[in-house]
Amino acid sequence: MPQPKLIILNDARELYVRAAEETAHITGEAICTHGEFTLCLSGGSTPAATYDLLATRFHLSVDWKEVQFFWGDERCVPPDHAESNYAMANRMMLSKLALRPDQVHRMRGEDPPASAAAAYEDELRKRFGLDDGEFPRFDLVMLGLGDNRHTASLFPGDPAIHETQRLVVAVEVDAEPRNRLTITPPVINHAQRVMFLVAGQSKAAAVKDVLEGPRDPDRFPAQIVAPQGGEVIWLLDKAAASLLSPR
Ligand code: 6PG
Repeated sequence: MPQPKLIILNDARELYVRAAEETAHITGEAICTHGEFTLCLSGGSTPAATYDLLATRFHLSVDWKEVQFFWGDERCVPPDHAESNYAMANRMMLSKLALRPDQVHRMRGEDPPASAAAAYEDELRKRFGLDDGEFPRFDLVMLGLGDNRHTASLFPGDPAIHETQRLVVAVEVDAEPRNRLTITPPVINHAQRVMFLVAGQSKAAAVKDVLEGPRDPDRFPAQIVAPQGGEVIWLLDKAAASLLSPR
């Protein structure tokens, strides 16, 4: 895998805009090359402003009818719950776009976790036309980074970090809500592109460990992201990048 591409922005606002620019560009490239754009959204708070920018300032830059929306992880809560990753993306972006229902592939956080994980695996297999042992190739997987070095819902010490067969698993994490659904490392690592969005001083130590620390995915789960045939882009603001060695 080629070295990750680091793009360091002055502040969070610049990061949100650059993330929207990069996404709009990748969308156009994907639709031109294979007629659609499969986007796997991140949860958390960082991407919210980017989602809003995509649906407003960049609305005309994207052929939205060709975009398929998926999620990298979800909290096991109803889709209208304050902690739902779907609810955030819907509020900030999806609700502002004239999408067909078949474009939105939501993880059903309201269902029992194990069956919701199995159902989402089936959804991915059906939508990507996968045989057993195959993994979806998302045009773009957006990821965040927790200050405990987690990404998606792959938390330190969780066996899911080493999952090699399943596409989606249910996990219990040491953060509220505790029950979550997450795509697995092989799904992330089959992506055409992975884009991390990380802002703020509170993430600086996590960024340092993941990018420059010893290889230890059990302690630093985001290190598991290494797409063999894909590109990794880290969008960082100066604060989140402040502990990195000079480059
Ligand atoms: C989630 C996310 C998670 C998130 C990080 C960073 O469901 O919470 O998928 O992986 O990206 O925890 O969250 P913030 O962007 O809120 O710092």
